[in-house]
Amino acid sequence: MLQDLIDAEKGYCLDLEGYASITDTSAPVIVHSCKEGFWKDGTWRVNYPQEGQIYLPEYELCVAAAALKEDADVVLQDCSDAPMQRFDFREDGTVAVISDSTETFCLSVGDTSRATGRNLRRPTRFVNCDNAVEQYTQWILPAKDTVYTSFDFTPISLLPTDEQAPTGRPRAGGGQGRGGGAAAGEVRRGPGGNNLYVGACAPCHGRSGEGLASEFAPKLSGQEDWYLTRQLTNFVKEVRGGREGERWATQMSFHIGDFGQAQLDSFVDYIGTLEDTPAEVTIAGDSTRGQQLYAACVACHGDDAMGNAALNSPRLAGMSDWYMVTQLQKFRDGTRGDHPEDTLGAQMVAFSQTLPDEQALIDVTAYINTLSAP
Ligand code: HEC
Ligand code: HEC
Repeated sequence: MLQDLIDAEKGYCLDLEGYASITDTSAPVIVHSCKEGFWKDGTWRVNYPQEGQIYLPEYELCVAAAALKEDADVVLQDCSDAPMQRFDFREDGTVAVISDSTETFCLSVGDTSRATGRNLRRPTRFVNCDNAVEQYTQWILPAKDTVYTSFDFTPISLLPTDEQAPTGRPRAGGGQGRGGGAAAGEVRRGPGGNNLYVGACAPCHGRSGEGLASEFAPKLSGQEDWYLTRQLTNFVKEVRGGREGERWATQMSFHIGDFGQAQLDSFVDYIGTLEDTPAEVTIAGDSTRGQQLYAACVACHGDDAMGNAALNSPRLAGMSDWYMVTQLQKFRDGTRGDHPEDTLGAQMVAFSQTLPDEQALIDVTAYINTLSAP
């Protein structure tokens, strides 16, 4: 991370172009508004595999100077003994290429930023350390003893203590949606849709919008467009996400911050074209008790739990059950629906209180599951 925030509210962090499975490791490295949490293209390690190297564990690549000259690109290469992969991490925060040259070159960000939605990005380059602008060249390094080996694990270990994994949540293991599996030719284009969804959303929500519990990202297909639009706006405005205890909503919020309104609309249109099959059942509860509890929900979400636009209440039937349980937990403990602008979420805060205990969240959701059973 750059020491000086410059114009970026959350500071600038080293990053790659692209998203998750379409991350471009051949393009020059950039800096982007810092994102919270663990990101495959934003989690670096220094002095690894060898002293002086800057390593990107997920891709097993090392940062290098494309050349030893002013304005040289900052690129990624296979880690090797190549001289232009070794850096001197200096006391003043500058990062200089180690070489025999009389001139030394320091890792710098560019002079101008570009906004993408709510986030900012700048190019990076190497500049002569003697003429370097301090503000652009002084870095904060990752903690020395932090070790990131692989991201191919269930992020459950990253859960803050106030969040409980729902019972029976499937483990990552199989790695669907982890990129690679899908051929480019399969991209579906719906009317007014786009294939940006595949790169930007599918890595977490799945290619068919089926939701991936391993990413804590719920099913989107089959959800009403007005509800999707409202939630995307909530994430953009950080009405959802951006606060303590909201790690997953915060990841979503950062991600969506890269898009403008026209793109948000096209995501919603595209999701509307995706096939809608009921989400996999992952919880087991007492649906008879759940049915009684659901009496408090029926006025808004409907007998069939298919939602009610006039009451702003989303569809629940056939959606990700583990996600409904976590959202009910969040409404109850104040991590969703407490933002002053979240007046609709606030309604749910009140109704989530009608559920007397933790088991009730599971039971009511088990009942909702029965409504979409084949
Ligand atoms: C890094 C993973 C990740 C990416 C990428 C991502 N999301 Fe999400 N998304 C999540 C998570 C996690 C949640 C649940 C947040 C919570 O628990 O409050 C979520 C929630 C949502 C919701 C709210 C659903 C509901 O029922 O409340 C919508 C809508 C959504 N995402 C759409 C998108 C779209 C569209 C994209 C692509 C531009 C996208 N997401 C990209 C992780 C992601
Ligand atoms: C007064 C109307 C009302 C009642 C009653 C109500 N809800 Fe809701 N519910 C809403 C609204 C409105 C939202 C959307 C909030 C938002 O926009 O963030 C919502 C959202 C939800 C969500 C989050 C869905 C998602 O995709 O993020 C769940 C789960 C939920 N309700 C379950 C229930 C359950 C279970 C009950 C009964 C105990 C219930 N609701 C009672 C209005 C209601």
